[in-house]
Amino acid sequence: MTAWPYPRWIAHRGAGTLAPENTLAALREGWRRGFRAFECDAKLSADGVPFLLHDDTLERTTDGQGPAEALTWAELSRLDAGGWLAPAWAGEPPAALQAVAAFVRANGCALNIELKPGPGRARATGEAVAALAARWWAGAAVPPLLSSFDADALAAARSAAPQLPRALLLEALADGWLEQAQRLGCAAVVVEHAALGAEAVAHARRAGLRVLAYTVNEPGDARRLLALGVDGLITDAVDRFDPAS
Ligand code: G3P
Ligand code: MG
Repeated sequence: MTAWPYPRWIAHRGAGTLAPENTLAALREGWRRGFRAFECDAKLSADGVPFLLHDDTLERTTDGQGPAEALTWAELSRLDAGGWLAPAWAGEPPAALQAVAAFVRANGCALNIELKPGPGRARATGEAVAALAARWWAGAAVPPLLSSFDADALAAARSAAPQLPRALLLEALADGWLEQAQRLGCAAVVVEHAALGAEAVAHARRAGLRVLAYTVNEPGDARRLLALGVDGLITDAVDRFDPAS
């Protein structure tokens, strides 16, 4: 089993829903509440700059419109990525992954970068994010964990920076899930929590894989998963769980 330097509790999209997701404000909110590991969603601007956004399009979490990857970073960086949540967050810009790297490194935190490519950009995203992350985390005690639902993005990340740990995201445990994670040289699987049971955890363990669960917001679910021996819990409920537990 690979050494696992990541904290058990990981704040989803920075601070779940308490601050605008995938912004530096969200990471600061998670930090303020004691979280020392964060998950974020990364994709590429039209000019190849990795930045944080969950959706393919801009409408839900910014004041922009249309496909997010059609804009250059200069254009994206002028958007408001906070006002959609509440007026108090207005003016919060989208976060460049490089700025997130600076934040987590300066504060001794860990980062799980979910490769979230827009349509047709899986390989480009995996390659660019992995190559740049290797540079931005050079010499770091804890490397970023690169995860994705997209096998092509993970394969490209592996080619670009084989030394960075990878995790396969799984919404369900379909036939062949373990073999796929192994083929991609993953250190872990990150599974939708309701799909995880004792058998799957044991199966992954025997293959030397770590097991994480998303998105765990109920204390009863967290108790069940910890009893199964999962290595990490990704949560929105940063005000409900004690990340030191
Ligand atoms: O990385 C775990 C989780 O973030 C995957 O789902 O849709 O919230 O990115 P989503
Ligand atoms: Mg995500």
